[in-house]
Amino acid sequence: MNAPAPPTPLIALQDLRKRYNAGRPNEVEVLHGLTMTLQPGEFAALIGPSGSGKSTLLNILGLLEPPSGGSYRLLGDEVAGLGDDALTALRGSVLGFVFQFHHLLPAFSALENVTLPALMRHGRVGRAELKRAREMLAAVGLAKAMDKRPGELSGGMQQRVAIARALVGQPRLVLADEPTGNLDRASSDEVFALMRQMHRERDTAFLIVTHDPAMAARCDRVIELVDGRIERDGPPPGAPPGAPADADAQAGPQATGRVR
Ligand SMILES: Nc1ncnc2c1ncn2[C@@H]1O[C@H](COP(=O)(O)OP(=O)(O)OP(=O)(O)O)[C@@H](O)[C@H]1O
Ligand SMILES: [Mg+2]
Repeated sequence: MNAPAPPTPLIALQDLRKRYNAGRPNEVEVLHGLTMTLQPGEFAALIGPSGSGKSTLLNILGLLEPPSGGSYRLLGDEVAGLGDDALTALRGSVLGFVFQFHHLLPAFSALENVTLPALMRHGRVGRAELKRAREMLAAVGLAKAMDKRPGELSGGMQQRVAIARALVGQPRLVLADEPTGNLDRASSDEVFALMRQMHRERDTAFLIVTHDPAMAARCDRVIELVDGRIERDGPPPGAPPGAPADADAQAGPQATGRVR
């Protein structure tokens, strides 16, 4: 009997390169041939010094910038061959984004901010989308703050709205660029726990850029970029083999029966 086909990776990079100012005197290559895969449902940190290329990589993975060379397959499809419409559709259906600065629109309520992606995609917000946005805000603990504007919410609450907005379209992968970089320790822990919970409950994959070693240590996998190259890729240091690193995950339903 044949072995079952391996699942299609969510992301597969082969010798991925990024150059800026190609052909000009100030041409610079910032990603020097990255090869890696990310499987559906992974929960990974992307770390590395300032300027190592983390945001550049995230922007490429998020289809916001094209690679300059090599291959990027998203759910098996080579991204380089896709036109703008296909890229926009993929971005909307497969990916969610969370940034360091939440990028919520100040004049709109939390609920309106969460329904914004649907509004931009379809030109209107349907009843089902409104319902899902309300459910999502309740899931991030903001049931009572839906009608508040970002300015009326704390930094942690604003970032929870941003997470609700990223997740409302049920993406396969959330790309988060320093999502807690702007928060104090307590809010940062809260936002991280929420991402863990969303990962556990919805099996959404996360790739989280962070400068916080404690946060990276609580992810299942740590990818380290140094000078545009993958320097290290594996479980966080000290993690027992095969075990999720995070205490929240170990306390969750999937942990039932695990020997610790
Ligand atoms: N549009 C651009 N044109 C030229 N160089 C760029 C451009 N964008 C980024 N770079 C360069 O690419 C390198 C990687 O930048 P990037 O923003 O990806 O780093 P990073 O790892 O996210 O850093 P940080 O931790 O400070 O956010 C840097 O040297 C940066 O100057
Ligand atoms: Mg960056």
